[in-house]
Amino acid sequence: MFEALPEAKPDAILALMQIFRADTRPNKLDLGVGVYKDGNGKTPVMQAIKSAESKLIETQETKAYVAPTGSAPFCSAMIDLVFGQDADKSRIRAAQSVGGSGALRVLADLMRKSRPDAAIWVSDPSWPNHIPLLGASGFTLNRYPYYDAATGKADINAILSSLSGAAKGDIVVLHGCCHNPTGADLSADDWEKITDLLLEKELFPFVDIAYQGFGDGLEEDAMGVRLLAKRMPEMVVAASCSKNVGLYRERVGAAILMAQNEAEATRAFGQLTGVIRANYSMPPDHGANATEIVLTDDVLSAQWRDELESMRVRMVGLRQSFSDAMRKRSNSDKFDYIANQKGMFSRLPLTTEHIATLRDDHAIYIVGDGRINVAGLPEGEIDSLADAICTVMAESENA
Ligand SMILES: Cc1ncc(COP(=O)(O)O)c(C=O)c1O
Repeated sequence: MFEALPEAKPDAILALMQIFRADTRPNKLDLGVGVYKDGNGKTPVMQAIKSAESKLIETQETKAYVAPTGSAPFCSAMIDLVFGQDADKSRIRAAQSVGGSGALRVLADLMRKSRPDAAIWVSDPSWPNHIPLLGASGFTLNRYPYYDAATGKADINAILSSLSGAAKGDIVVLHGCCHNPTGADLSADDWEKITDLLLEKELFPFVDIAYQGFGDGLEEDAMGVRLLAKRMPEMVVAASCSKNVGLYRERVGAAILMAQNEAEATRAFGQLTGVIRANYSMPPDHGANATEIVLTDDVLSAQWRDELESMRVRMVGLRQSFSDAMRKRSNSDKFDYIANQKGMFSRLPLTTEHIATLRDDHAIYIVGDGRINVAGLPEGEIDSLADAICTVMAESENA
């Protein structure tokens, strides 16, 4: 059976994690990992979730199946979180999903049933797993340029120019906020311009929102989705609770669709249920159940919002400190963009050689494309980190 299978290509981030674990240097620093870390280098379980889990264990009387689309109150709370209280819910439907990844996959499968000849457009760069996840549905994948490394901003002209070559009916994946890996978000004006183009060319928006609450705030980070929802006739959204509820391993998310009208929404939701049934039948319950308890309880919800806000504020502070330290050490403003970017990631202009030297000589681990996890920046040692990075960059310039 397996003799014909070639060696699998290792996942760069997972491979880096393994090398990091095996490194015995006491001062090693992991800036590559894709999870939030607190000041002690831990990825904590949120207190609101701990309380919800206790309540869940006390009150749950059965582990019988819920439904392929999960819990309806959870889904409704997720629609409110992403689309806001004022959205026209009559034509929005949501299914609980296996993390944001599961939502991406089942939504892609659903759209492939409806529009098999469309292409999916993904930003370049993007979260690397977008390619296998969305490609697995069978769609042709195209890329649109996204990032201007010189300014540290999204390159709206390049985005619009590339997407204007998309064919009617094509699907455009947009990061809802906190673009992974660049941290460069679209401004309200950029979102308006993209929406104009989507309407004019009859393209279909597919929003991936995996970091709501990590950028400018829970409501602020949903600005792009809500703007699209006001102006587009239809769209889909893959939402993840891995980061903002800290439930990574529990696999919690929502696959949300907005159709042109109520009847179409109900029909599409029936098909989505079939897609889920054919993939994994039922989503896991525990994490979504705890999230539902948090989102539907005023006290726990307020506590969760506070905890999330502290994480966000911590990352904003780390961005500012690191950007200041890089400015001081490099004697230039070329790293100021780090303070203005959003969420957990930014990219440093590092070559493969820089990254290898940082790892070998300084025990600093960074992924191959220069992406750093801002939450992993070491409070109190930011100056020495900036020093190591600038030293390595200067050495190669002088070589
Ligand atoms: C841009 C983006 N989308 C989706 C996801 C999916 O997250 P999960 O499947 O863990 O919820 C991630 C996770 O890193 C991500 O960065």
